[in-house]
Amino acid sequence: MKTARTVAEMRALRGQLAGPVGFVPTMGFLHQGHLSLVDRARAENASVVVSIFVNPTQFGPREDYQTYPRDLQRDMAMLESSTDVLFLPDAPEMYPPGFNTWVEVAGITDRLEGASRPGHFRGVATVVAKLFNIVQPHRAYFGQKDAQQLAVIKKVVSDLNMPLEVIGLPTLREPDGLAMSSRNTYLNPEQRRAATVLYRALEMARQSRRSGERDASRLRAGMLALVQQEPQARVDYVSIADPNTLEELEEIDRPALASMAVWIGTTRLIDNTVLE
Ligand code: PAF
Repeated sequence: MKTARTVAEMRALRGQLAGPVGFVPTMGFLHQGHLSLVDRARAENASVVVSIFVNPTQFGPREDYQTYPRDLQRDMAMLESSTDVLFLPDAPEMYPPGFNTWVEVAGITDRLEGASRPGHFRGVATVVAKLFNIVQPHRAYFGQKDAQQLAVIKKVVSDLNMPLEVIGLPTLREPDGLAMSSRNTYLNPEQRRAATVLYRALEMARQSRRSGERDASRLRAGMLALVQQEPQARVDYVSIADPNTLEELEEIDRPALASMAVWIGTTRLIDNTVLE
């Protein structure tokens, strides 16, 4: 595995890679979910590029940019056997003085994560567009755990005619159902136990849907009630929405994205599932 720390180094190494090139953008502190994206990139492409960059522009002023977990040595060991080039820019390399161009997706970013985290998707869309321009992959891989992020990135690629395929892959879960996330490391043992409430609420929604429930408000109310039974949990939002527009549904007359954001102590967790 070769590493590039500057855009110029990344471009030089990219020139030597056999195509097609698969790309996995990450913020590091890798887990099995990330590795499943790298494995798929490895299986589908001649070369694999991974980036690790904790992107300051997607964090709000009161969010966890400074404390976001970082362990580069461990990440590098996890990637060594499967990655051709690891791109490790720092913030001044990605946002040099005078940087002033932003990618904003209207509409789908107004809701859910976008409503709770103003500016978040502007930061994500901008950094991902920059990374795509620098790495020039044929395919890029993202987890479906960040379902709205995936929808936003697909929209950027389609609206800006970027010549690559965006591939979303299933969420990996711990044995008790908790979605894998770098932020799970913030949870103490009691909070870690409480955090399974997100999965339990999503499973309840799936069961109800399977038993024929079509009223989205009843599903949302059921999920909310279940989460509220957990004393450690504070709901940010619970949603049953169209998976493309992310508009809330009244009747479930198509596949629906059930999603939620819940605070467990000072840690904000998200999760989702598609109700077929
Ligand atoms: O999902 C993430 O880790 C980040 O949002 C991404 C896509 C790497 C952009 O910083």
